[in-house]
Amino acid sequence: MQTRAIGPVTVSAIGLGALKELLDAGKIRLAGISNASIAQIEAARRILGDGNLASVQNQFSPAFRSSEGELRYCAEAGIAFLPWTPLGGSDAAPGLGTWHQAFGDVASAHGVSPQRVTLAWMLALAPVVIPIPGARRPESITDSAQAADLVLTDAEVQRLSTA
Ligand SMILES: NC(=O)c1ccc[n+]([C@@H]2O[C@H](COP(=O)([O-])OP(=O)(O)OC[C@H]3O[C@@H](n4cnc5c(N)ncnc54)[C@H](OP(=O)(O)O)[C@@H]3O)[C@@H](O)[C@H]2O)c1
Repeated sequence: MQTRAIGPVTVSAIGLGALKELLDAGKIRLAGISNASIAQIEAARRILGDGNLASVQNQFSPAFRSSEGELRYCAEAGIAFLPWTPLGGSDAAPGLGTWHQAFGDVASAHGVSPQRVTLAWMLALAPVVIPIPGARRPESITDSAQAADLVLTDAEVQRLSTA
């Protein structure tokens, strides 16, 4: 059977044992997991073997911060942390700067969108953080992409982290 190299595979439902089999068979190079607690991340590292867990994809946004512990754990372990629904989803995203005033204030100070500030804040939390915003409009995509170039001060990051 022909195999080909692919990027990290993110799964939430299939077992870690099945992922380990795919790794051992050379069908995947690295694995990712989703919606995992720190205990589950540690189990994944143990079962998959050192260095084989590439990423953890958990919900994380201004409104949903309970994965902050997993983010910190991933930062220390050098595992990519992918915040899903980073802008709060399609219902919340348009009003992000109003519902979370600190994000609106920082956005105004920089003359950019609160959504861009949100993504820049996440990127500033740790080098392993890679937010995955969804978008249907091209202007959302180009705006969000510019978060990579938006530099927030330490004070701004601190304010947004505690807002
Ligand atoms: N692992 C899991 O269990 C899980 C669960 C849920 C979702 N996810 C993943 O999370 C990702 C994103 O989730 P999501 O789309 O639900 O939520 P989201 O990224 O928080 O929000 C998407 C909304 O944000 C808007 N938006 C994006 N960038 C913007 C910008 N720069 N300015 C203004 N508005 C902007 C979009 O608008 P427009 O559409 O109008 O452009 C869309 O309405 C997806 O890839 C999804 O697969 C993973």
